[in-house]
Amino acid sequence: MDSKYTQLEQIATDIREKNVCPDLAMQATNLVMGDGNLNSDIVFIGEAPGKKEDETGLPFVGAAGKFLNEMLAAAGLERKDVYITNIVKYRPPNNRDPLPEEKAVFWPYLLKQLQIINPKVVITLGRHSMEYFLPGMKIGEIHGQPKRIQFGDHKIVIMPLFHPAAALYNGSLRQTLIDDFLKVPEIIRQLK
Ligand code: URA
Repeated sequence: MDSKYTQLEQIATDIREKNVCPDLAMQATNLVMGDGNLNSDIVFIGEAPGKKEDETGLPFVGAAGKFLNEMLAAAGLERKDVYITNIVKYRPPNNRDPLPEEKAVFWPYLLKQLQIINPKVVITLGRHSMEYFLPGMKIGEIHGQPKRIQFGDHKIVIMPLFHPAAALYNGSLRQTLIDDFLKVPEIIRQLK
């Protein structure tokens, strides 16, 4: 079996070779696949790359990423302890919301990423990635409440959080997000 790294590289190659989402690909500088520890118990899933992410090819390196780093630090973690990706892998123009068809076309590739990394907890950031794992649920009602779902032949925990960009200029949402995230290490301890 190829290493996790090689398997993830293959997903990126497939996306390029099959010309997935040509409208976004045409305007993008980089395909932003993900970054971090391929053996982590925790995977974060955001929406789509922004300007900085498109320029660097790395997820969450702009203002929202800075806040994500702070959230991690509050739990005694660093980026190298987790894996971070998005549902949509190319930047939508002018940072508009990803379209339903853009999310749908990247969904199978996100599932493959998760199968390879095999985390215990998937943290969805914002409603765009949440709605795929927890259809019909509302982020305002269920944020910070872990849900166990069947994933292939085993269960994983989905932890729905608000998107860090939403909390950037909203002090109380910022604290909510940190409080929600601080539940994750205990959830992992209980799963072991
Ligand atoms: N917002 C996201 O959802 N993803 C990123 O990578 C950056 C900002």
